[in-house]
Amino acid sequence: MQIAVLGFGTVGSGVVELIDRNRKTITGTVPEEIHVKYILDIREFPGNPYEDRIVHDYDIILNDPEIRIICETMGGKEPARTFTEKALQRGISVCTSNKELVAAFGPQLMATAKENHCSYLFEAAVGGGIPIIRPMNTSLTPEYITDIAGILNGTTNYIMTRMERENVSFEDALKQAQENGYAERDPSADVDGHDACRKIAILSSLMCGKTVRYEDIPCEGIRRITTADMAYARKMGMAVKLLGRSRRSEDGSSFYVRTAPFLVPADHPLHSVEDVFNAVFVHGTMVDNLMFYGRGAGKFPTASAVVSDVMEEARTLGTTIPCTWSSAETMQLSDPSQECFRHFVRVSGKDEDAVRNVFGDVTFVTAEGAPENETAFITAEMTEKCFEDAAARCAGVIGTVRLL
Ligand code: HSE
Repeated sequence: MQIAVLGFGTVGSGVVELIDRNRKTITGTVPEEIHVKYILDIREFPGNPYEDRIVHDYDIILNDPEIRIICETMGGKEPARTFTEKALQRGISVCTSNKELVAAFGPQLMATAKENHCSYLFEAAVGGGIPIIRPMNTSLTPEYITDIAGILNGTTNYIMTRMERENVSFEDALKQAQENGYAERDPSADVDGHDACRKIAILSSLMCGKTVRYEDIPCEGIRRITTADMAYARKMGMAVKLLGRSRRSEDGSSFYVRTAPFLVPADHPLHSVEDVFNAVFVHGTMVDNLMFYGRGAGKFPTASAVVSDVMEEARTLGTTIPCTWSSAETMQLSDPSQECFRHFVRVSGKDEDAVRNVFGDVTFVTAEGAPENETAFITAEMTEKCFEDAAARCAGVIGTVRLL
């Protein structure tokens, strides 16, 4: 079975190497041995053991009738979208790690795959090496899922773990994440929450069957989180995590999705997820709580997820693997200003009465090593609208973090 890999970067090179290194294991469970015939990249790779497979012209791949599966590990919308469409239109199955493309055009590409009796799979697009897309599409199909909370970006989790444990600066931790091949080319996609936002959009779409547009999801990153926030969190037995969060009521009347830093209490399974690890917490009305955990980024973990899709496609050639997210129709999300949270707040000064006057009943917190001349507290549960109104009336808000 001849396949091609588009993009010989971190993930693409991992796919090619993994297929060779685990050849015996892979060959036992697919109808024919899998062989990477072409690697498409604009660069040359002199001296690389796979140098002879490199091509620069996509048409060579498309026009070779031996190619049955393509792995798109290029990232970005174009030319990945055009390449994917052209392959699917010829009945070539495609699998991808490209969360940006899946979040933006997933249902359209899956529809093209269906018309042409092939598949478009994206296990590697969420959670790196964690199997989450396939369980959502198979094991969890009897479930009415009401909650998903995920640590979905390895880079930011790695950065916050380094800041928390070793007092490493934000910049140094980001640099290490880049050296380890975790980070996006544009670091803002990680640190400003866009990558996690696309991933929770994909999971939310699988949850409800329609398209949750990532542009509709309120999105905050980790730039404003400081080591002082972490000191308070530690004192309260909590940890700060960037989460993609999706929750709907059992009757379906409300559906909130949000990407933001959250304070996660010690008894929540997401609390202990550190470094580049990702985790996805899922609540279904029948199965109750589930947790999926593993490396959320990096060469081989992500490649492992891509190759699992290659193998699934190799076993099902000529058919389309079904997906719970089948509609390009937009899912209407609830008004985010009506979502309710408790908030952790830091304000300058020591005037507890002034805080109570504005925020009502609050619980004050202290922490060793916290900055002098500030007051920290946790509010009662209130809507975002009420909280924002109160925060606007309060002079000197230094920082706020929602509680999970
Ligand atoms: N930059 C992403 C992360 C890569 O850090 O999680 C995996 O999608």
